[in-house]
Amino acid sequence: MPTELSIHKDFDLSTFNTMGVSSKTSHFVEITSLSELEKAVQFAQEKNLEILILGGGSNILFKKDFDGLVIYNGLKGIDFLSDTELKVAAGQNWHELVLFCVQHGLGGIENLSLIPGSVGAAPIQNIGAYGVELEDVFVSLEAFMLETYEIRTFNKTECNFGYRDSVFKKELKGKAVIISVTLSLTKNPTVNTSYKALADLIKDKGIQNPGIKDISNCVIEIRQSKLPDPKKIGNTGSFFKNPVISVQLFDQLKADYPDLPGYPVTERQVKIPAGWLIDKAGWKGKRMGEAGVHTKQALVLVNHGNATGEEIWNLATEIRLSIKEKFNISLVPEVNIIG
Ligand code: FAD
Ligand code: EPU
Repeated sequence: MPTELSIHKDFDLSTFNTMGVSSKTSHFVEITSLSELEKAVQFAQEKNLEILILGGGSNILFKKDFDGLVIYNGLKGIDFLSDTELKVAAGQNWHELVLFCVQHGLGGIENLSLIPGSVGAAPIQNIGAYGVELEDVFVSLEAFMLETYEIRTFNKTECNFGYRDSVFKKELKGKAVIISVTLSLTKNPTVNTSYKALADLIKDKGIQNPGIKDISNCVIEIRQSKLPDPKKIGNTGSFFKNPVISVQLFDQLKADYPDLPGYPVTERQVKIPAGWLIDKAGWKGKRMGEAGVHTKQALVLVNHGNATGEEIWNLATEIRLSIKEKFNISLVPEVNIIG
């Protein structure tokens, strides 16, 4: 075992996941350099331990204790490759990066303000909010490959981004550790106000020519008005993805529920808000023990205090069954389920 690595045993993860469930990992290490990462991976492979890479823990649910090595990503640094291109280490905080860009007059990610978590996790599900997705500014990333120990560069096409999706959730799940992400920003931003709630707020505030700071502030205000702060009440943001359904099913549902919102994805497919479905099925504000559905946003499951991961998962399962029965739609978790 590499002596310089500080590997903790039976480590409590309660403060390392924003749902705030108490779960233990048999082994835990924080890495702050590439060589530490390599040693940690070697340690796990020698001991036959499963590896889990952890960033801010804001999109993960520990259903039970984890038997393996949790590698907590502490890689830091922001490098300017040019006036507008930034190479950012995976352990940087995402929202701090957004604020850094806004301060430097670099546009492109202001709509993604206040999303918790690390830069390295952003490509995993191609984070998105208020009309912008990571892929819109993405150039490439570097990943440490667990099988070969090589550093591989992935361009945008190779990442195969989709809605809350990428190659790292599919073929390369658990095989690559993202160590840096390169983004292309702009000094002459055209702000994106395509999301209705954002456009409405800008109008209400009487802002004539919004700049990137206005967009960031407005996004933060909208988010704070409906999403719970994980520091106050445990949650992982949207628990499920918004389902994409056929136009045919959408038309059938619309006949029964004329107020069902829908956003065309292709000519044949419509994305509908899972929050609306869960709300309509009567779940908003409901509790099952310590697990609950947020009172202001039905897509967010919350930990009222001492919920176990199992309790949160049981609530999610009940919700899925109920949505399947009422609307014939299968909800898919956005959150990564461990255990
Ligand atoms: P973690 O939860 O630590 O990890 C998530 C997954 O990525 C895990 O499977 C983990 O193993 C893997 N992973 C993490 N880092 C790496 C790495 N370096 N290399 C390889 N694999 C890695 N998401 C959105 O898209 N849009 C939103 O608007 C949004 N709003 C949110 C609001 C709240 C209040 C909360 C709590 C969450 C929200 N999220 C949102 C979800 C979450 O913030 C994002 O998915 C974020 O990118 C997760 O980052 P993290 O570092 O916390 O990842
Ligand atoms: N709605 C309800 N009741 C609710 C919640 C929502 O009726 O309790 C309906 C409303 O009609 C509303 C619509 O759902 O207009 C959409 O709601 P909202 O604007 O809050 O967005 P969302 O679809 O619930 C998605 C993302 C969020 C992202 C926002 C803003 C997913 C799974 N979620 O939420 O991402 O911040 O849009 O772009 O795509 C996350 O991924 O964790 C996340 C928070």
